[in-house]
Amino acid sequence: MTMPANKTFVFDVYGTLFDVHSIGTACETYFPGIGESISETWRQKQIQYTFLRQAMGKYVPFSDVTRDALRFAAELHGRPLTLREEDELLKAYQSLSLFPESLEVLSNLKEKGHSLIVFSNGDPVMLHPLLEQAQITGYLDHILSVDTVKQYKPTPAAYNLILDAVEVPRSEIIFLSSNGWDISGAKAFGFTTAWINRSNQPVEGLHQPPHYEYSTLNPVTTW
Ligand code: LAC
Repeated sequence: MTMPANKTFVFDVYGTLFDVHSIGTACETYFPGIGESISETWRQKQIQYTFLRQAMGKYVPFSDVTRDALRFAAELHGRPLTLREEDELLKAYQSLSLFPESLEVLSNLKEKGHSLIVFSNGDPVMLHPLLEQAQITGYLDHILSVDTVKQYKPTPAAYNLILDAVEVPRSEIIFLSSNGWDISGAKAFGFTTAWINRSNQPVEGLHQPPHYEYSTLNPVTTW
């Protein structure tokens, strides 16, 4: 596949650049012994609620979805949270850790003159503080949120936001995500896809296999 010299890389945020399970430590404080399972349920419900809300035509910002998913996870594990505890855990969600290689990969690609975009279901209220505390905004040409169109990934309307932001044909946009369903959606939309398969998952049975598959972001620096 031939690509232009200056490439456009689009990164998913939660799970791709940032480790959503780094919240496990904060969860452990509130849910001793079950922090990790709370964190797992929290993430699963967060994603599921976006799919369900999209199907119902009931969009709300991802920060609300994230709160609702946390509340469900806490109740499921028999330890409902007070509003103050919820607020504290949601605040912790704004200081998730980057994956070990994320910063170096962004800096390396930027040095080579590529265009870097982050694109997330996250709404600006939760997304901007996260990117700022990780000190990566300086590497980014665009910070795009589905909140602009009020439709979550993997809708074509959401992916189309990227085409609105850059004058690049969709097949030349390199879309990176650790979420198999997001990669399927981006591939169906016509992007070139690199699946960062961090947890060794099988390809989603959606008949939209990724163009590339890596276990971390590191190989992308050789492009
Ligand atoms: C995001 C979630 C889906 O950042 O990972 O959009």
